[in-house]
Amino acid sequence: MSTEKTDRNFEDFTHRGGGVDIMQKVDELDDFLNHNSLDYLGGLGLQVKGPAADRVAVLEADGTERDVIMLGSNSYLGLTTHPRVIAACKKATDEYGYGMGAVPLYAGTSPLHRELEERLAAFYGTEDAIIFPCGYSGNVGVIAALCGPGDMVINDTANHASIFDGCALSGADIKIYLHRNMRHLEKVLKALPDSQRGRLIITDGVFSMHGDLAPLDQIVELAQRYHCRIMIDEAHAVGVIGPTGRGTAEHFGCSGKIDLTCGTLSKTPGAIGGYCAGSAALVRYLRYYARTYFFSTALPAPVAAGLIEVFKLMEADQAGRDRLWKNVDYMLNGLRSLGFDTGETQSAIIPVIVGDEMKLGAFQNELRQRGVFTNVVTYPAVRRKECRLRVSIMNTLTQSEMDRALTLFAELGRKYSVIK
Ligand SMILES: Cc1ncc(COP(=O)(O)O)c(C=O)c1O
Repeated sequence: MSTEKTDRNFEDFTHRGGGVDIMQKVDELDDFLNHNSLDYLGGLGLQVKGPAADRVAVLEADGTERDVIMLGSNSYLGLTTHPRVIAACKKATDEYGYGMGAVPLYAGTSPLHRELEERLAAFYGTEDAIIFPCGYSGNVGVIAALCGPGDMVINDTANHASIFDGCALSGADIKIYLHRNMRHLEKVLKALPDSQRGRLIITDGVFSMHGDLAPLDQIVELAQRYHCRIMIDEAHAVGVIGPTGRGTAEHFGCSGKIDLTCGTLSKTPGAIGGYCAGSAALVRYLRYYARTYFFSTALPAPVAAGLIEVFKLMEADQAGRDRLWKNVDYMLNGLRSLGFDTGETQSAIIPVIVGDEMKLGAFQNELRQRGVFTNVVTYPAVRRKECRLRVSIMNTLTQSEMDRALTLFAELGRKYSVIK
């Protein structure tokens, strides 16, 4: 096996169609990363010591511990460490232990799980809600339960991977429209055969790699005109988007017009878990037919207890949201005025588009080595030519932390020719 540095990338190590041993790609990737990973994307998969906060210690691959300003956490409102949340988790651990021991329908649920579902339903103004082990499995389970061969699912091209995986598993026909392009969506809908009545439009609310919002008001209008159901993934919207943090539907004034409101409890809510809110009949159906619910163990009760507290806090904490948007504005304006391409973000996710993987790796590695951590995003999350740093903003970031980050961005952006 070669030990040379190469210009290969992650796209080169995927399925090859049965012509070679399935382990060949495994060995090739191993070899590639052994000789290229630090130059390439050394910041992928680092361990963080301590809770998600504005400052954390990360463990480098060589064991070095480094104190960094955290611009790579989706705990936007800083709730993971809130004393009331921690106290609720501790109390529930004493009462329920730390794991459930069975899938929900076979004795794996508790009054805390039910209370969390009721809170979610109240939060979205729906009749009921169901919780899943995580957002990924929620999306997969919901789509595969509701759609099947002969149905049509219509996706924004930038939807989350879990949505595409759910669509693939469902066996439904899949159409994709250009990112947030309503003219293209209408063209796709117009071309659907009249006989194909099982139609579902799926969109992220906030697109996770771009930070922009789906034009939900227009999607609702098109869905009504072309007789489609709508599913939205509110993963990065819950708690922060909309006047009271109830998400993209609230932002666009179309609450009550969405058939399936799904999401994850891992971003602003700060823990883990997926959900789908909708009619009572829908939720009841999903309990029996969403296989990622039926065949998968429920969230640990302490997590459910923490999340109940989180929803109480999120509903009341307008000041926390205001602090977040102040920080987002400051960082976004700062990065833009330095000349970085930050796309069309409207959320707490700020993409910094670099477009060249080697440059991206070097930029992110040096940023981190000098004390600022960001996510590094490339294939398969985005196209390689659109690879980027993903800067996520928390409301706990201080002015001096943001200033330090912007100073480094300016220096290294010039050094790596990302800006002039
Ligand atoms: C838009 C979106 N949907 C779903 C998920 C999956 O959620 P989870 O991490 O809870 O599996 C994520 C990210 O994690 C996401 O960004």
